[in-house]
Formats: sequence, structure tokens, C-alpha cells
Amino acid sequence: MPLVRIGVLASGRGSNLQAIIAAIQARTIEASIAVVISNNQHSVALDRARHHGLEGVYIDPRACAQEPDPHQAYDRKILQVLEKFDVQLVTLAGYMKIVTPALIQAYQWRMMNIHPSLLPAFPRLNAQKQAMEWGAKISGCTVHFVTEGVDEGPIIIQASVPIQEEDTVETLSARILEQEHRVYPQAIQLFAEGKLSVEGRRVRIIDPGPN
Ligand code: GRF
Repeated sequence: MPLVRIGVLASGRGSNLQAIIAAIQARTIEASIAVVISNNQHSVALDRARHHGLEGVYIDPRACAQEPDPHQAYDRKILQVLEKFDVQLVTLAGYMKIVTPALIQAYQWRMMNIHPSLLPAFPRLNAQKQAMEWGAKISGCTVHFVTEGVDEGPIIIQASVPIQEEDTVETLSARILEQEHRVYPQAIQLFAEGKLSVEGRRVRIIDPGPN
């Protein structure tokens, strides 16, 4: 079976990218990273990509600033790169930019995001802080398909993390991140095996195997 070609979009420190790289190296996922794309020239994710000999592409958002719809124009540039590298699955990993329909439609049910809460609770920014301030006793992380509603797409996998009395946003975020690094590669592998089927809002996992 040929390996599924992944495109990773990342803006920051890239620890989820690193977890995906590690899972590929350990052969727990049957995929290869075709390209890492960032909107942030200084993202650690790009450094990590290049360190591992992967293609790392920075696309400057300012290049689209004069376009009638700068966000769509930017995503058309992303799409060109994804197509150039023959990407089959797009994974957003700390990508701090809203993706537009141009990209979402081209990769419908082939684009995933990871979010640090149990969606639909605490979408958007600072999810861990939101959970603590709400007084939630359990939070976690979610891998979901990307649709036009931010953090609203069908859920692929979730992992729960109890919130402890002594937690700070930092300690909670660190424990959630451990789970992110575990479940994101799992979701990618399920995709690679063709085991994900979207039915309405539900993602059915065909023959999930041991968790
Ligand atoms: C993660 O917490 C992820 O859930 C959120 O952004 C953060 C990215 O972290 N979408 P990293 O860049 O992968 O380390």
C-alpha cells in the first residue's frame, strides 16, 4: 500500500508535528509528510521540518494583503503547494489562521484539526483556560474534520483529561498535550487505513481495533 501523503499546516512550536514525525518513524502510522506549510516564518514547526529533511514552506500572508479577499487568496496559494506535493490529507497542527472554503472544499473529509478541549465545549482560543475558568472537572482534546464552522466539524477521536484542584493552565495544557500527541497519530492512521466514514455529524470508525 502506498503511504498516505500528509501536508501539515502549523504556525507555532510544532509539538504535534513532532509527534506525527515520531509515529511515522516508529511505523505506527502508514503515512509520509509531503510538506509542512507555515504562515509564520519563525515557527519552530518549520525548523523541525527542515531538521528532519522535510519540505518546509513559508507562505507570507502579506503577499495577499492587497487582494479583494486576502484570506481566500492566501488559501489558494496554500492549495497550490498542497497540489504540487500531491497531498492527500491535510492536518492542522497549531495553525493559527482561519481556513476558508477554497481550501476546505478542496479537502473535504481530508482535512483534520486538533483542539485542546472536548468539543463542542470551549472552542476557539485558550480552550484550556476556558475549561478551568468554567470550573469543568474534565477536559481533554479532540481531533475533528475541518468544516466551515470553526472547531465544529465531525469528531474523529477525543481523549479526556481530569482537571485537578491544583492545576494551572500550564499544567493542564501539558497533560492535554500528552493526549494530543497520542490521538493525532491514531486519527491519521485510521484515515490511512480507510476506516473513517462520515455520516451527517458522525464519524463512524469501521473496525476500530484496540484503543
Ligand atoms: C495544540 O494545543 C493544539 O491542540 C492547538 O494548538 C496547539 C498546538 O501545539 N490547536 P503545537 O504547535 O502542536 O505544539
